[in-house]
Amino acid sequence: MDQKIHLVILAIESSCDETSASIIQNGKVLNNVIASQSVHEKYGGVVPELASRAHQQNIVTVVNEAIATSGIALTDLNAIAFTRGPGLMGSLLVGVSFAKGLALALDIPMIEVNHMHAHVLAHFIKHGQIEDDKELPTFPLLCLTVSGGHTQIVNVKDYLDMQVIGETQDDAAGEAFDKAAKMLGLPYPGGPFIDQYAKQGNPKAYIFPDTNMPGLDFSFSGIKTAFLYFLRDEKLKDPDFVEKNLADICASLQHHLVHMLMKRLKKASEETKINTIAIAGGVAANSCLRKELKNTAEKLGWKVFIPEFQYCTDNAAMIAMAAHYKFLKGEFCSLDIAPEPSLVI
Ligand code: KG4
Ligand code: ZN
Repeated sequence: MDQKIHLVILAIESSCDETSASIIQNGKVLNNVIASQSVHEKYGGVVPELASRAHQQNIVTVVNEAIATSGIALTDLNAIAFTRGPGLMGSLLVGVSFAKGLALALDIPMIEVNHMHAHVLAHFIKHGQIEDDKELPTFPLLCLTVSGGHTQIVNVKDYLDMQVIGETQDDAAGEAFDKAAKMLGLPYPGGPFIDQYAKQGNPKAYIFPDTNMPGLDFSFSGIKTAFLYFLRDEKLKDPDFVEKNLADICASLQHHLVHMLMKRLKKASEETKINTIAIAGGVAANSCLRKELKNTAEKLGWKVFIPEFQYCTDNAAMIAMAAHYKFLKGEFCSLDIAPEPSLVI
């Protein structure tokens, strides 16, 4: 191995519908190759069987590209990391099996990574020379992780020491965005489309019920139903209601979902007295959530951290970051490891 190369890990992410691979060297991410699956668009949601087939088709190309563009030889790898869960069983199996095969062939250890853990650690990603002085969050830190499958508030005490203090009891916030978008006839995934149309709309045009749970927990399934009945009733009065009011509908719904998220996040900060706040996951790309977070930060004196867009949605760079810290602590797993679709933090 080259004298300058110390710790090199290949990380693989395949928990849902993105096949991704990343190389990390001495804690710096060298690349983040992602193959997205467009096959799900026409179904309005991820079809698990199609997702695992697409992972099978993409994984070799994605890993090859990560290796080729890193300038690192396969034989320089010190470990292979992979997402163990949570996620779709068939999708996870592709990544786990691939990691096992390569680890066996190269005779190097494997590192299992929790996908939700990794979303939080996306905040610690450094890549390239220019990021050397990037300000990183300090501990303790509260992270609101909001994706298509999860909504949780995590008390992050250290890189590998996290506790979920609030989470959704049913649907994720991203699912509420996606299902509402589907009812409006928008493509999948609908979150970015709602965000886009909302820019021209009035966020106070329509009122929706606050379905949050007591304490720090969320609930979004009631919103879906309320939104369905709202559209049904309005369409009875005017069949063109959606077409005429799309911007106002999107702005009002988005404002409401963001308000529900922010309410619980503020409560969590009050209760824990933690003022370092981060957001993660696909919904962290939402412009209204980002704006609200910055406004609240100014009012309450929070220090906020918002990851780069490419590290908000599913990616292997965040898996690589988590793997780096696990490698430093000697946390490896054995070859008989199996995926865990319901893995918790
Ligand atoms: O983290 P992610 O890529 O995959 C999961 O692990 O689920 O998150 C995908 C979710 C989808 O629900 C998508 O609609 C949502 O993130 N999303 C957004 C935006 N961009 C992505 N939701 C609202 N506004 C956005 N700009
Ligand atoms: Zn995710």
